[in-house]
Amino acid sequence: MLIDEIKAKELLNLASLAKMRAYSPYSNFKVGSALLSTNGTIITGCNVENASYGLTICAERNAIFSAVNQGFTKGDFVAIAIAASSKNFSPCGACRQVIAEFGDDILVIFEFNGELQIKKAKELLPFSFEL
Ligand code: THU
Repeated sequence: MLIDEIKAKELLNLASLAKMRAYSPYSNFKVGSALLSTNGTIITGCNVENASYGLTICAERNAIFSAVNQGFTKGDFVAIAIAASSKNFSPCGACRQVIAEFGDDILVIFEFNGELQIKKAKELLPFSFEL
């Protein structure tokens, strides 16, 4: 499935809606994600924080883990869009590793300095860890 700029922006809009569901009372930083599967299904996620800070889950991993629980697996994802509170956002290293696990060519869509970015997972995390 090819992703053009229009589709990327649509996915980013869904990520923005998911962002509204963020549970982030500690950082006040809201993140939402929208994960597009090869069959067209879109699974969303938001960040969920915890008083024990390290237990926090990022929006990207929330969507991916939720998708796996719904029966999706490696190779089933085309793209993931991420929207955050700040204009200057890019996905964290842990989420890059988890995205790469499910496909090096997954397109990662986000806005950095107000500019639309569409990058392959392998561009964002070269030499990702594999077993
Ligand atoms: N966060 C995400 O949801 N995704 C990222 O890629 C980076 C960080 C969340 C975690 C935490 O709830 C908040 O943003 C501040 O770090």
